[in-house]
Amino acid sequence: MSILPILLYPDVQLRKLATPVNEIDGRIDILVGDMLQTMYEAPGIGLAATQVNVHKRVVVVDVSEECNTPLVLINPELVEHHGEAEAQEGCLSIPEIYETIKRPAQVHIKAIDREGNPFELDADGLLATCIQHEIDHLDGKLFVDYLSALKRNRIRKKMLKLIRDQDD
Ligand code: NI
Repeated sequence: MSILPILLYPDVQLRKLATPVNEIDGRIDILVGDMLQTMYEAPGIGLAATQVNVHKRVVVVDVSEECNTPLVLINPELVEHHGEAEAQEGCLSIPEIYETIKRPAQVHIKAIDREGNPFELDADGLLATCIQHEIDHLDGKLFVDYLSALKRNRIRKKMLKLIRDQDD
């Protein structure tokens, strides 16, 4: 397993639409392993393949306190959603920025697991927020898109400065 570099906002690669996985082969298994290691190392509670510049519909999530309950979602689909909830969100591609975002409170999703088995899942709370945030990544969408243009611009400038400072 290896730690993969994470793209930082406003990298245009984060806007790419990820394509569905047709076959769960060894390459996908390696990608999933690398993504899990990258997420835990960061540390973060979710990572989409888009963020490591692989434009396939693969997401890893772990919202457990002990960081020992990985959830792998391949070709995840939001089937149903209910209610509305506000939660603070952050993103490994937008470090040090946290904003309150309004999303559906409960979701029902279907996906394929690492072994290639289809499954369905009901989620609420942090898990629901995280899954929706990660599926957005696969569609080239970021949580800053839910903010006002003014706020988004401010974050963009902050990020550009952060990237510049890193390069120095
Ligand atoms: Ni994110």
